[in-house]
Amino acid sequence: IDPTLDLFAEINKLKKEKNAVVLAHYYQEGDIQDIADYIGDSLGLSQQAAKTDADVIVFAGVHFMAETAKILSPNKKVLLPDMKAGCSLADSCPPHLFRKFKENYPDHLVITYVNCTAELKAMSDIVCTSSNAVQIVESLPKDQKIIFGPDKNLGAWVAKKTGRDLVLWNGACMVHEIFSREKITKLKERHPNAKILAHPECEEVILQMADYIGSTTGILKYATNSPETEFIVATEAGIIHQMEKENPSKKFFPAPPNNTCACNDCPHMKRNTLEKLYLCMKNGTPEIDVPKHIIEKAVLPIERMLEISA
Ligand code: 13P
Ligand code: SF4
Repeated sequence: IDPTLDLFAEINKLKKEKNAVVLAHYYQEGDIQDIADYIGDSLGLSQQAAKTDADVIVFAGVHFMAETAKILSPNKKVLLPDMKAGCSLADSCPPHLFRKFKENYPDHLVITYVNCTAELKAMSDIVCTSSNAVQIVESLPKDQKIIFGPDKNLGAWVAKKTGRDLVLWNGACMVHEIFSREKITKLKERHPNAKILAHPECEEVILQMADYIGSTTGILKYATNSPETEFIVATEAGIIHQMEKENPSKKFFPAPPNNTCACNDCPHMKRNTLEKLYLCMKNGTPEIDVPKHIIEKAVLPIERMLEISA
């Protein structure tokens, strides 16, 4: 790429030329969030993907999110700036193993967290995100037996909140499992008024310390509406970009990880860059393709989720 190119101007030009919409997750780098037409959590992004009238959806997020957009809008072109932008949580639940697991519980309903492959969604009864998981479980009869996967931390939190006994798949997100209780405690000692905000993908020891637990949109709203001025943020650090934009006078501290080599950036999310976003819009590739027979099955549990959370 010509280094003198104004990528913001070029991307805006391409959006018009191709009738493209750029959807970005809060974990994307700041520049990508700033050029996006819509920034949101997984639920908000799938709602946008379902209703957009653009011809091209450019998904600045990870593979399972772009797949969900394609399942909801199969006739549109869905682009992902870097096809290798995967997800450790989705990888922790290979479909062939989940199929076997499911066979052990024939009278259970399957709720899957949206952070999974299209193939897994096709084996599910209802999909959920972190912002509606509790609502979705509560929409089912109390005696309904449920398998919940792939995130064991979110699953355990939902089980606790709803008082239901969920059969959990043993999966987790590499980013949300690195936070250190001891280091967060020390940070809190230095900032005693700071509120701790955590994503439910965090381990229970971290969730126990939290003043608020919720999806990325929930965390952002809480910080914006709170009269407090300092926050310790236990989720991927990309969200802090919007938190600071909405609240320039407040202070946000990323929750420290347990190992000095680790950081709370998601390596998958951060594979996308402004340059790759520009190139994928210019070249119309890499494009997401989901087999028709998977789309036909996977769309049902996603639509069920959208209906329940409408
Ligand atoms: P939400 O944006 O739904 O809170 O999800 C967080 C996440 O881990 C996405 O990969
Ligand atoms: Fe997956 Fe975790 Fe990255 Fe979200 S933050 S995309 S769950 S690896």
